[in-house]
Amino acid sequence: MSVWEQFSLEGKVAVVTGGTGVLGGAMARGLAAAGARVAVLGRRELKAQEVAREINAAGHVAMPLPADVLDEESLHAARRSLLDNWGRVDVLVNCAGGNRPDATVFGDLTFFNVPRDALEGVVGLNFTGTVLPIQVFGEPMTRQGSGSIINISSMAAQKVLTRVMGYSAAKAAVDNLTRWLAVDLSEKHGPGLRVNAIAPGFFIGEQNRALLLDLDAAPDAEGVHPLTERGQQIVDHTPLGRFGAPDEMVGVALWLASDASRFVTGIVVPVDGGFSATSGV
Ligand SMILES: NC(=O)c1ccc[n+]([C@@H]2O[C@H](COP(=O)([O-])OP(=O)(O)OC[C@H]3O[C@@H](n4cnc5c(N)ncnc54)[C@H](OP(=O)(O)O)[C@@H]3O)[C@@H](O)[C@H]2O)c1
Repeated sequence: MSVWEQFSLEGKVAVVTGGTGVLGGAMARGLAAAGARVAVLGRRELKAQEVAREINAAGHVAMPLPADVLDEESLHAARRSLLDNWGRVDVLVNCAGGNRPDATVFGDLTFFNVPRDALEGVVGLNFTGTVLPIQVFGEPMTRQGSGSIINISSMAAQKVLTRVMGYSAAKAAVDNLTRWLAVDLSEKHGPGLRVNAIAPGFFIGEQNRALLLDLDAAPDAEGVHPLTERGQQIVDHTPLGRFGAPDEMVGVALWLASDASRFVTGIVVPVDGGFSATSGV
């Protein structure tokens, strides 16, 4: 196999949860461009259709797969539809997730009065919303004896980021799940099943846009709003000196999805411009 063939996803089927979002959409496009047939999973059916249409228009293959990662029935319906159409699952990217404002420790909200439903909501989405799709889409992988599962973690799992208490704990649980499941699946189903994670640094997404950019201030000539104080702090602690661009997630996703990483399991790869490397001193 040539070095480039190792990275090819020709003949493989990938499911991207949160494929309707900023990072998931970028990875869905990247996996499709590398040859995979990609199912774009999210609750917003129209958005899933739009992303799939765009991929198909670029000459690749995608289908919308509307589902809620916290609703097992909808995940099972999505799996039936996927297997009826494409017959297999080779790659699962668990990108559905994010923080929520009512679980953010800021202003009047302190650690001591975070509402329980907000805490359980953010932990549920990021942790249980990763476990359930693996249970549903990982099962056909066990029958095939091969598959690559890619979880999406965060810098918040390894370093303390103020405000995002529940989100951080949930992403730390995702890191732990990644290692735990890497061991369990390879022991029980052989070396063809692998589980890894990507820990993005800071990218402008829908849920963190207002936290990182001052949307009330006038944008510059290129249409970019100035940074909030928190946004500036992040850039100052990122050796490469900027936020990430969504398509900068694609290289690592392709590597982990493809045979190029066939001896790699149980790791969390930072894509963070050096944020996790620096002490800031
Ligand atoms: N942006 C960053 O800087 C950053 C940094 C570290 C980690 N991350 C992680 O990267 C992932 C993607 O973030 P992003 O910035 O791309 O955010 P985003 O644009 O808000 O995308 C998140 C996606 O998750 C989907 N989702 C939420 N709840 C869902 C549910 N119950 N069922 C199915 N899908 C659901 C949403 O799709 P629907 O609305 O269609 O359901 C949405 O498209 C998240 O796990 C986030 O925690 C992001």
